[in-house]
Amino acid sequence: MPGSGLVLGRARRERLQVGESETVGPYTLLRLERGSLDPGIPGQFFMLEAPGRVLPRPMSLCQAPPGELAFLIEPVGPGTRALCALEERDAIHVLGPLGNGFDLDVERPLLVAGGIGIAPMPYLSDALGSPPAILGFRSERHAEAAVLLTDAEVVVEPRLVTELLPEDPGDVLACGPEPMLEAIRALVPRTQLAWEAPMACGYGACYGCVVEVDGHYERLCIAGPVLREAA
Ligand SMILES: Cc1cc2nc3c(=O)[nH]c(=O)nc-3n(C[C@H](O)[C@H](O)[C@H](O)COP(=O)(O)OP(=O)(O)OC[C@H]3O[C@@H](n4cnc5c(N)ncnc54)[C@H](O)[C@@H]3O)c2cc1C
Ligand code: FES
Repeated sequence: MPGSGLVLGRARRERLQVGESETVGPYTLLRLERGSLDPGIPGQFFMLEAPGRVLPRPMSLCQAPPGELAFLIEPVGPGTRALCALEERDAIHVLGPLGNGFDLDVERPLLVAGGIGIAPMPYLSDALGSPPAILGFRSERHAEAAVLLTDAEVVVEPRLVTELLPEDPGDVLACGPEPMLEAIRALVPRTQLAWEAPMACGYGACYGCVVEVDGHYERLCIAGPVLREAA
């Protein structure tokens, strides 16, 4: 059964220094020195120590320039706010890469993201040779994050990303809020969707991230976060 054991693969835990912290619209792009951590496959995630909080927070890798790991963070609660407040030369523990990323063996990739779901897309786009992308945001300020991808089509609410999906969209790789992923799943037969669930450990030990997948229960940190929908 997939995900039945505690699989850490290439993951390591290391204390990494903050190189820079940039503001991108309402988000923060947190650049960490990479240390000896492997950036992994796009769509995989890392558990970032959130200063002052007991549990680390899961974050997708956004960019992986040489020597660096960069995370795009939306401040929605105490953990993410603490991460966004980090300053140059602060240091945090980081564990990863974890989980299953996107399958890059696709013929006609189309990236689709909503809101902070844009986070894994720059790294994914680099890996796939800058395929077309559709991005949706809830405000013009959030849409400023579109600068992280070249040549993306952008919609702002009340318009939705599904309005821009072509009739034959090819291989859709998507990340975003659950209603967006459900809408894409209903429209497109062959997709790879990056889902979210609250995660305490990130490697299969706590069972905090159990979700229903095709009628049975899985730990999303191991079975996902990217799940492939059958054609
Ligand atoms: C695999 C994975 C990758 C992620 N990548 C990113 C990323 O790249 N950038 C980013 O900004 N965020 C990402 N997230 C979400 C991020 O981890 C949460 O927003 C964060 O843990 C919230 O912590 P907090 O202490 O700030 O807020 P909390 O107070 O813990 O939560 C704030 C609100 O968000 C809800 N919430 C918290 N975590 C989740 C979750 N995982 N799913 C659904 N609702 C949740 C809570 O119920 C609450 O309503 C990712 C989550 C997962 C599972
Ligand atoms: S986050 Fe602990 S089992 Fe998935």
